[in-house]
Amino acid sequence: MKILGIETSCDETGAAIIEATTTDAPVTLLSNVLASSLALHVKTGGIIPEVAAREQLTCIIPTIDEAFEKAALKKEEIDAIAVTVGPGLIGSLLVGVETAKTFAYALSKPIIPVNHLFGHIYANWIAGNNAPAIVFPTIALVVSGGHTDLVLMKSHTETIWLGGTRDDAAGECFDKCARLLGYDYPGGPKISALGEKGNAQAFALPRPMQGSKDYDFSFSGLKTAFLNLTKQNFPLLRREIPNTKGGWEQIMQEDALSDSEKQTLFDLCASLEKAIIDTLVAKTLTAVKEYQVKSLIICGGVSANKQLSNVLKDACATLNIIFSAPPPLLCTDNAAMIAAAGFYHHKAIPWQEITADPELYFD
Ligand code: KG4
Ligand code: ZN
Repeated sequence: MKILGIETSCDETGAAIIEATTTDAPVTLLSNVLASSLALHVKTGGIIPEVAAREQLTCIIPTIDEAFEKAALKKEEIDAIAVTVGPGLIGSLLVGVETAKTFAYALSKPIIPVNHLFGHIYANWIAGNNAPAIVFPTIALVVSGGHTDLVLMKSHTETIWLGGTRDDAAGECFDKCARLLGYDYPGGPKISALGEKGNAQAFALPRPMQGSKDYDFSFSGLKTAFLNLTKQNFPLLRREIPNTKGGWEQIMQEDALSDSEKQTLFDLCASLEKAIIDTLVAKTLTAVKEYQVKSLIICGGVSANKQLSNVLKDACATLNIIFSAPPPLLCTDNAAMIAAAGFYHHKAIPWQEITADPELYFD
């Protein structure tokens, strides 16, 4: 069967078409189109929900058209429509959900509501890049800008949420710490690139909740510790924020830094990246061992982090279990993962019953 996936939970507008035959094999990607309003949000220093939704309204139809064009398919040739219903920004979700409903009604096709978090997980079930076949039971680490969760999957339909962050997500910690240094969203790739030239042992940062006997995470204390370190060790290049309520922000001028200041910046980034990764890895491997799973999968924007995937890949090799991470383009938000999740969780419902749910979480 061929499924059109639609993703509009945050600032991206995605449309993709997959082809699938059996739930025992990964799906084939026929097209995957993504329009981002990131440039608009960089200007405002973050996502303004109304701005994101208005932008999505203008690009949703061209994005879907392009997905059909790239797959060389006519609209009536698809068998179902899968759409993200939550969690996410209400205005953005509504754009995708209402569009999907309209297509479902006009084409008389079934519509499958998809939880965005399961969507991230199913980025691991898309064929390509010599992806290994995932064997159940598996542990899924969902690690993105908004979420950090550990899920035990006994099968496609039997899943148990083990724990998640009590405050900030891991990606949010990367993003906010990058902001403290004066860098724009997304902060994860920037911290990681700067950290490559640094010494991860240079600064002591906490590994929050590492000793706790649950599968929860916490990243807000780490963020505060990083703020304090930055204030003590890094020459803040600050300027007054014009035309706002006042206050200060840091502007990054790497060229104005001396060599030793640059090294401090690199060391701070390397130490932060290592602290976040150690925290994620410790709980993930505890879950892998406790539930004696046959595979480990990671997903979400932060799973694009090379250090994280290398550490977990090596640990899985030692434990003799399968490790899977999506290719970088499928780690961050996209519609291919939504179409794939729609296939494995094939629960079509009448289009009249589909509603957006910004607060949706794991069942
Ligand atoms: O999954 P995603 O696109 O959006 C959400 O659903 O949140 O994830 C975005 C997050 C951002 O926090 C970004 O900084 C982080 O993923 N990210 C990374 C890397 N690439 C993206 N974090 C660490 N290392 C990376 N290479
Ligand atoms: Zn996401």
